[in-house]
Amino acid sequence: MTVLVLYATVEGHTRKIAEHVAGKLENAGQGVILADVRDPGFAVPGRFDGVLICAPIHIGRYPSSVAQFLIDWKAALADVPTAFVSVSLGIRSDSAEERAQAQTYPAKLERKTGFHISKVHHAAGALKFLEYDFFKRMLMRQIAAREGGPVDTSRDHEFTDWAALDAFVQEFADDVALAETG
Ligand SMILES: Cc1cc2nc3c(=O)[nH]c(=O)nc-3n(C[C@H](O)[C@H](O)[C@H](O)COP(=O)(O)O)c2cc1C
Repeated sequence: MTVLVLYATVEGHTRKIAEHVAGKLENAGQGVILADVRDPGFAVPGRFDGVLICAPIHIGRYPSSVAQFLIDWKAALADVPTAFVSVSLGIRSDSAEERAQAQTYPAKLERKTGFHISKVHHAAGALKFLEYDFFKRMLMRQIAAREGGPVDTSRDHEFTDWAALDAFVQEFADDVALAETG
């Protein structure tokens, strides 16, 4: 039984989440292929028993490589259990409006691609102040200040709830096992 864990990332945090997910699935006894959606060498999803996709929100949308992947492969993806991890900062905002907004992104992706996201987990991402250039650092500091986040730009800040993510991954692993036996 082999599962594909596919991710897109800009500053690296979603890769870290995908690596964590892959480790968790391996511990649950599954074979795992971990791949960046932009890597032309990744294996086609039709050969896997399940596919879990991790994607971050940047300026209100997921990377276009993720949308394109879903458009290209939605028919093959419909045949196996799938799950989607949406990575954003809005989901941990002090503002109820921002949190609600963050929850709308998977449905927007569904409308754009025609791919049905059956299982979604919203993971809070990271503020990577040390990775941003000057302008991005100032922009993200301003947004963090507005939404009750940290403004210390001398270090990175991670907000992912790893235990909640693990519980979601376990549910997905159970779906894959059930699909195999059912
Ligand atoms: C330039 C920029 C724009 C962002 N825009 C949004 C946004 O519109 N909504 C949101 O909830 N999070 C936004 N984020 C937060 C990212 O989703 C978060 O930092 C995530 O961890 C990035 O994942 P990555 O490191 O894999 O790229 C933004 C982050 C950056 C740096």
